[in-house]
Amino acid sequence: MNIGARDSGALLRVERVSRDFGGLRALDGVDFDVAAGEVLCIIGPNGCGKTTLFNTVTGQVRPGRGRVSFDGRELSGLAPDQVARLGVARKFQMPSVFEDLTVRENLGVARFAAPANARLPAAEAVLSDIAMGDVADEPAGTLSHGRKQWLEIGMLLAQAPRLMLLDEPTAGMTGAETMATVELVRRVSGRSGTACVVVEHDMRFVEALDARVLVMLAGRLVADGSFAEVRRLPAVREAYLGRRA
Ligand SMILES: Nc1ncnc2c1ncn2[C@@H]1O[C@H](COP(=O)(O)OP(=O)(O)OP(=O)(O)O)[C@@H](O)[C@H]1O
Ligand SMILES: [Mg+2]
Repeated sequence: MNIGARDSGALLRVERVSRDFGGLRALDGVDFDVAAGEVLCIIGPNGCGKTTLFNTVTGQVRPGRGRVSFDGRELSGLAPDQVARLGVARKFQMPSVFEDLTVRENLGVARFAAPANARLPAAEAVLSDIAMGDVADEPAGTLSHGRKQWLEIGMLLAQAPRLMLLDEPTAGMTGAETMATVELVRRVSGRSGTACVVVEHDMRFVEALDARVLVMLAGRLVADGSFAEVRRLPAVREAYLGRRA
């Protein structure tokens, strides 16, 4: 297994990134590439550094060492809005939609974060992707938790991103909603070369998505392979003991 295998045409390149918080090494030499159109999952126990890794890509946290580049451009030092305008769209762990605005209005607001030269999809196309045409004119605050999560993914799609970063998109979802989210991620990634990186704890999601999986443990990448390959590793079994791994 070749951890963090390099691809010369990488869209996202994370090179030996480390980050300390006081005495804690949250990221320790993290090194991997994501190709255009690629889908991959990042798994690992609570506190292993998954969200911090996203933060170093999107400009919320600066890497202490190493570098992150997107489409050949170094991201270190850019503010989150500048990274977003390069085509990196991110969904945070907690759903954050505008509750008083309708679904359609939420998608409209999201377009303001898009890159200036992006060819943005029509609202109807996004509504169809997230299967929410029936609630387009309902206030987002009335949606179920699962549908709020999908609306947020729709808000990323409305920006025509080149890379989507999803942090635990199925948290709090029912089993059926989780499987529908697998289909949603499959449907929208790869299209026009859009890559998608999903941090997930739910092994049903990771197994069903059947994509490349990176395993993090205490700030380090310890495995990179298919779900079938990584699920056999003692580190994964240990990390997900009690979970369905
Ligand atoms: N801004 C910060 N200041 C101090 N410590 C931080 C900060 N951000 C993260 N940490 C610490 O870094 C470690 C990694 O946190 P991170 O949120 O990246 O983990 P995670 O893998 O996303 O966990 P979870 O699965 O619970 O979401 C944790 O010990 C966390 O407390
Ligand atoms: Mg996290």
